[in-house]
Amino acid sequence: MPASVVVGTQWGDEGKGKATDYLADRMDLVVRYQGGNNAGHTILAEGHTLKLQLIPSGILYPHITSVIADGVVVDPRVLLEEMDGLAAVGVDPSRLVVSGNCHMIMPYHLELEKVTERFLGKNALGTTKRGIGPAYADKAARIGIRIQDLFDEKIFREKLDVALREKNLVLTRVYGRLPLTVGLIVDDYMRYAERLRSHIADTSKLMHDALRVGKNVLLEGAQGTMLDLDKGTYPFVTSSNPVTGYALASAGIGPREVERVIGITKAYVTRVGAGPFPTEDHGPGGERLGMLGQEFGTVTGRKRRCGWFDAVILRYASRVNGLTELFVTKLDVLSGFPTLKVCTAYRAEGETFEDVPPHQSLFHAAEPVYEELEGWDEDLTAARSIQDLPSAARAYLDRLAELGGVPISVVSVGPGREQSLPASA
Ligand code: IMP
Repeated sequence: MPASVVVGTQWGDEGKGKATDYLADRMDLVVRYQGGNNAGHTILAEGHTLKLQLIPSGILYPHITSVIADGVVVDPRVLLEEMDGLAAVGVDPSRLVVSGNCHMIMPYHLELEKVTERFLGKNALGTTKRGIGPAYADKAARIGIRIQDLFDEKIFREKLDVALREKNLVLTRVYGRLPLTVGLIVDDYMRYAERLRSHIADTSKLMHDALRVGKNVLLEGAQGTMLDLDKGTYPFVTSSNPVTGYALASAGIGPREVERVIGITKAYVTRVGAGPFPTEDHGPGGERLGMLGQEFGTVTGRKRRCGWFDAVILRYASRVNGLTELFVTKLDVLSGFPTLKVCTAYRAEGETFEDVPPHQSLFHAAEPVYEELEGWDEDLTAARSIQDLPSAARAYLDRLAELGGVPISVVSVGPGREQSLPASA
């Protein structure tokens, strides 16, 4: 059977790459379905540390076809750099397949995001400044340029001309920047076209054909549920949909193909950028989580905001994604806290909410209702099965599963493969 989805249940950085790596042996296709080079995962390849932002980590396995599906926005310059980086350390990028329907990040998207974030001042979203939002905005406005447009220079030039007419007015008249020229962009993008040509395919058909012959497909999301454009903490979200529903739209397969929906859940919570975060700990607890968990953004290097486990958002993520199981990451980071706080509900405007409140003002005002669980001192990184974990750590996991209403299938206690502990073993 068929397709599995890996989805983040928090504000991203839950360790989705870890789950993909764990499941890779059984997979034939690993498909990235949304976002762009705003996400990032660090991988260890042939003794080299590589940072990938677009290419699914499945590329490291010779038996896997790595796919970038329609819903991803692709900066072709970054994609080619990643392919070169892989080739330089002996990883063959020729098995990468990219949908011709992907929209491209263009130089004016980067330029516009820089100036609009500055313009927003204290209301800035704290984006990764990779042009993600402006590229998705153009897609919705139907003035986006897709990868397939690269293969007809006349069409490409025409579309670019239309887009630039408006973008240059905004850049020069509103923001006092210099205009961009069609010719220079065409030269660069035509060079990218030549190099990308052999990787472009109908990825929906590819997946459909693979599923028909019983191959396993892993659909890998970027960011997380609470950064979802519709289901997250709008407007402090990314411009795409990390939730499971979008995996299907982007990949172009039907819901009956999906057997497992694996929610990646960090044992505590982090968030990068602005926006509400009810369980954030501004004190020494948060500092300690950030330090021990090495909570710095892979893409921007920014320090992540850290806080306690939030079962309200887990229940919500379970509901909106249809989770079948949880993959809990970074449990080892919690060693040494005398007690651990777990948020079971919110209080806002005199009311208690066991679900994410229906209005954003309530979410912004939400105060966590905590229960305190016993901590443990033992170092967990050497554990090789769930039974090796101290009883307090097992009790913590049981409580998360109970509060979230989803069973845990794997718990990870470190970056190594052998540190992913199956719950059934
Ligand atoms: P954008 O995706 O660059 O538009 O940024 C929008 C929001 O999403 C900002 O708060 C970013 O910090 C956040 N964001 C985007 N990608 C990631 C990610 O991979 N991990 C965590 N936060 C992210």
